[in-house]
Amino acid sequence: MATQNTIPPFKSGTVTDALLKDHREIESYYNEVINSNDHDHQERYANQFTWELARHSVAEELIIYPAFEKYLGTKGHEMAERDRKEHHEVKEQLKKFQNMKPKNPEFIPTLKSLMSNLSQHIKEEESMDIPALEKVLSEDHNYSGVSEKLAKNFGRTKAFVPSRSHPSAGENPPFESVMGLLTAPLDHISDIFRKFPDKTINPNPSTK
Ligand SMILES: [Fe+2]
Ligand SMILES: [Fe+2]
Repeated sequence: MATQNTIPPFKSGTVTDALLKDHREIESYYNEVINSNDHDHQERYANQFTWELARHSVAEELIIYPAFEKYLGTKGHEMAERDRKEHHEVKEQLKKFQNMKPKNPEFIPTLKSLMSNLSQHIKEEESMDIPALEKVLSEDHNYSGVSEKLAKNFGRTKAFVPSRSHPSAGENPPFESVMGLLTAPLDHISDIFRKFPDKTINPNPSTK
């Protein structure tokens, strides 16, 4: 299993650009939690981490994994299946973590164990899946502009998906994704009462 980040150079606005930005953002929120002893700071960034990871995962399942299947045939189908399985595990861990407070002795161990699975998954996406998709889209002129369109759809979808982990949401489109989307407004209402980093005045997914 490849663990090296071998991603080739990419243009801004492409699907690679969108996914890599999200991955770095998720990692930065993780680091904020892990490298702090301040419970208030940890709680804010844990909520930010949960929010970003939950909507990143469901938007990948709704927009990016179906694109693997559409543009990469059998290989793409295998990638999508493996990725959905890995997401399911991480989302189960996130569901456990999202209800924990920093004073809980399991708070950091749970987050670290989640992150070790997530890092492996991100490495696979970045070293194999995303480059394979970007390659086929850039080499076939019939697919000109598709990468940019996928990036846009991915960004828009993030605005409408749940901001907390509901493990089955999005994994089996279309039925479960519809069920998952129904929980999104409830998540967004609860977000009003959660603490976020000061610069996130209120998590408003429509701004991203
Ligand atoms: Fe993923
Ligand atoms: Fe991802």
